[in-house]
Amino acid sequence: MKKLVVFTGAGISAESGIATFRASDGLWANYRIEDVCTPEALQNNREQVIDFYNMRRKEVLTKQPNAAHLGLKELEKQFDVQIITQNVDDLHERAKSKNVLHLHGEILKLCSSRDVSQTIEFDGWEQNLDARHSDGSLLRPFIVLFGEQVPMLERAIDLTAEADIFVVIGTSLQVYPAASLLHYTRPNVPVYVIDPNVPAISLPRNPLHIIQKSATEGIEELIRLLS
Ligand code: APR
Repeated sequence: MKKLVVFTGAGISAESGIATFRASDGLWANYRIEDVCTPEALQNNREQVIDFYNMRRKEVLTKQPNAAHLGLKELEKQFDVQIITQNVDDLHERAKSKNVLHLHGEILKLCSSRDVSQTIEFDGWEQNLDARHSDGSLLRPFIVLFGEQVPMLERAIDLTAEADIFVVIGTSLQVYPAASLLHYTRPNVPVYVIDPNVPAISLPRNPLHIIQKSATEGIEELIRLLS
């Protein structure tokens, strides 16, 4: 089976009702990154950061995968589908996609403050402010904060380099190193981009197919083009 690598961002979850980051009414229009999404904020402003992720976690639990998530599951009938997502929601998992790699963490998990690879799942949405990991450190959201290492990046690069087809859905490509993934596609690998506001992309070595539609409409066109 051909390897179909799909790189997703907040836009694929927009039609499930989860806010994107950089839209005019997006998350970063209502919160300052330095207040809620940096290691310094977690250190100096712990309660505000934990509350921020508690609210987002509570919201994710009320949402459902949309036709775009389900369409990627459908493509598993024809391709070895590998999803690399910047999203921290679990909508790809709830759409039953088999291979999902989270670059920026997973909001339904917490981790040790001493070793972020030591994660725990937990029920409900509300992290207790003083809860500790078994290693004694304070628990924190299992989220890659701005300026932190992206542990899954190497794996994502390897997957991208193996892609026979690369698809980008719903990302403004503003955040690095995630956005650099596109440049690890092999020459001549076709790249499909689904986004109502297509970000600037320069990939001189790859055939570029732009689908200027929402994720749920674009996935239908993609499935037609790939079938
Ligand atoms: N269907 C498809 N794409 C959409 C839709 C939709 N219905 N609605 C919006 N989009 C597109 C926007 O046009 C934009 O290109 O989704 C993209 C969302 O961009 P961002 O809000 O910047 O989100 P993302 O690219 O995922 O952000 C990357 O930034 O803040 C960090 O860690 C955070 O993972 C996040 C990273």
